[in-house]
Amino acid sequence: MLQQRIADLSDYVEPDRVRKEVYTDAQIFELEMERIHETVWIYCGHESQVPKPGDYYTVQLGRQPMVMVRGKDQRVQVLYNRCPHRGNMICGDRRGNTGEFFRCSYHAWTFQLDGRLRSIPMMESGYQGTRWTRDNPDCNVKRAARVASYRGFVFASLAARGPDLLEFLGHSKIAFDDICDRSPEGEVEVVPNCFRVIQRSNWKLFLENQLDALHPSVTHQSTGRAARDVELQIEKKTGHAPLSYHMLSAFATVTIDKWDGFQTLNYPYGHCILTGYMGLRPQDPDTLQYERVLAKAYGEEKKEAILSTNIHHVLIYPGLSVQSPLQQLRAVRPLGVDRTLTEIWHFRLKGAPEPIYRRALAYYNLVNSPATLINADDLENFWKCHSGLASDGGDWVSFARHFGRDIEKDGVVETGPNMGTSEAPMRNQMKAWTQYMTAEK
Ligand code: FES
Ligand SMILES: [Fe+2]
Repeated sequence: MLQQRIADLSDYVEPDRVRKEVYTDAQIFELEMERIHETVWIYCGHESQVPKPGDYYTVQLGRQPMVMVRGKDQRVQVLYNRCPHRGNMICGDRRGNTGEFFRCSYHAWTFQLDGRLRSIPMMESGYQGTRWTRDNPDCNVKRAARVASYRGFVFASLAARGPDLLEFLGHSKIAFDDICDRSPEGEVEVVPNCFRVIQRSNWKLFLENQLDALHPSVTHQSTGRAARDVELQIEKKTGHAPLSYHMLSAFATVTIDKWDGFQTLNYPYGHCILTGYMGLRPQDPDTLQYERVLAKAYGEEKKEAILSTNIHHVLIYPGLSVQSPLQQLRAVRPLGVDRTLTEIWHFRLKGAPEPIYRRALAYYNLVNSPATLINADDLENFWKCHSGLASDGGDWVSFARHFGRDIEKDGVVETGPNMGTSEAPMRNQMKAWTQYMTAEK
């Protein structure tokens, strides 16, 4: 039906612009769920969310309610949250421990932690001669077609075929290496719980904004300026400015021309990295102590390599934005064509001194949480963009900034010198979108 109405979806995407329907058409959204979010590798959660056998955490992949669960063999499985009897969700709570097995709350069918049927009340008398026999695979809770994890970060793909997780991640796996390597133990654990924000816009607006280096000094200028004023007052009174204010004032002091000095690296499958950071190696006693702990764990040379990794954001298309130097990520869960949930997660570096955690936590609260004005600034733009796009005021969204000046090397598109505000990441995302949406089934 959609194919009849929209002959060729690639007509909706040109290298430097995109039709508005890509954001507002409910049928295109359904097709996106089928061909993108229910096909490619999507982030489910971190293994430390389910540390013990029987621990589970529910998560939405595309339109599918799923359960991430730790099995008796310690392996993490991802199951459809659906009882094979009459369709009841087997887990009604967001998270918990189900014990030795799952028990459906409707008619008490029970299932092993890997989804296999365990028991049906009075199965022999009730189902004799029917298709419901113990060896019928339809009696099991269905599993995600593929589950894999990298350094504790669990992904699932609901399609049996496609690149494996490492091939899919490609260079963007550096996000997880950068998070974990900053721990002297090479591991992180999740900080329970996450923030959840529902934005009134299409999911792609969030992802496009993540590597949009043009917007911070405009969108967040008022927040940055207000923080700068207070920062200066405190500095005047006490002689030094607290780092937490710097996290916010940087949005006003890092001007557009400075953002242009950063760079984006755009990879296959729509992934992108924004380089540059506002400085995470102050010479205060806490940082110096942390550096000593890292040097002891890894040696001086490797410590330097870890701490000089120059990443601001890694975007793993189509559902994850990772801010690895500060151990936080945002998982994007589309709910409808004009409604998107983001989960904002934070991780603790195992073995790192407490003040380093506190500093990253401050950034999480001040910049990424629903309580901060930074987040509110962005949310307002997302809602206004979506409302404008739904109007008859125009047909196209432009991604033409620095178009034609990208540098392509071995399949990686780099923005040119002093073009950090290029819209190359959006062009790259829409290239991947078109490939997924028009792929032969
Ligand atoms: S719906 Fe689950 S046991 Fe009936
Ligand atoms: Fe922003």
